[in-house]
Amino acid sequence: MNSQPRRVENLHTDKGKVPVYATGVVDQPWDDYSADDHATWTTLYARQREILPGRACNEFLDAQDAMGMTADRIPKFSDLNVELGKATGWSLIGVEGLLPELDFFDHLANRRFPVTWWIRRPDQIDYIEEPDLFHDLFGHVPLLMNPMFADYMQAYGEGGLKAHGIGEEALQALTRLYWYTVEFGLIDTPEGLRIYGAGIVSSKGESIHSLESDAPNRIGFDVERIMRTRYRIDTYQKTYFVIDSFAQLMRATEPDFTPIYARLAELESLPAGEVQGDDRVFHRGTGEGWATDGDI
Ligand code: PHE
Ligand code: FE
Repeated sequence: MNSQPRRVENLHTDKGKVPVYATGVVDQPWDDYSADDHATWTTLYARQREILPGRACNEFLDAQDAMGMTADRIPKFSDLNVELGKATGWSLIGVEGLLPELDFFDHLANRRFPVTWWIRRPDQIDYIEEPDLFHDLFGHVPLLMNPMFADYMQAYGEGGLKAHGIGEEALQALTRLYWYTVEFGLIDTPEGLRIYGAGIVSSKGESIHSLESDAPNRIGFDVERIMRTRYRIDTYQKTYFVIDSFAQLMRATEPDFTPIYARLAELESLPAGEVQGDDRVFHRGTGEGWATDGDI
């Protein structure tokens, strides 16, 4: 790689201290990727696709195939954009890394998804603390092919612009919603619990942990519960929230959040790893798959 991402400042957020990069849109420097860069993509892609069938939701896996991502080489944004444009009108734009919130919201509100152009080094295969091309492209982009999820992401961007005008606490609440849905969401299907969150599907360890470990809580989706709940950025999640369907996600986030933000301002945040009295808890079923409390 002949250029390095430009880190411009550190931002203190709910996620701790995160680097923020230059905000400009960059052309994906595809010809400059090295053989090592492509090999990193191939390794990660093949590894995830081996473990994700039966773990990731079918919407994710089918969309990934439909848009023409393969293990062979780092995809070209311009190729993916043809398929994305046809399916939902979204487009990918190249960026240096995490964007300041307002820039990010504005892109989403206009159906542009920012993708980090650089990929992690070979010694970062298993863990990198900031989003790189593999996380953004492999994890986030496939579901943008899904009309319902595509609408959710745009609405989130518009909601972000609105929350930004309301204040810090509204932004924090909305960021938590993103974290527990777009990044770390699980979905309940007739075949059992499945992953749809980008932060999970792009991590081998968390793909297994989120579904198979007894350590984390798996709790039924509830907007206000999520907005009150802190989260961890330095370990696997202590709690995952489970949607029944993408339609539920749409329905529950459709109402104006302004009164919710006002209510939340009066309430304490909840710890990342605690079950509350009225949570709907998902347990591992005795046979294959999963069941809620009521079913087993
Ligand atoms: N309905 C939310 C609001 O009024 C906007 C939103 C939609 C936020 C979807 C997140 C996801 O702010
Ligand atoms: Fe992400």
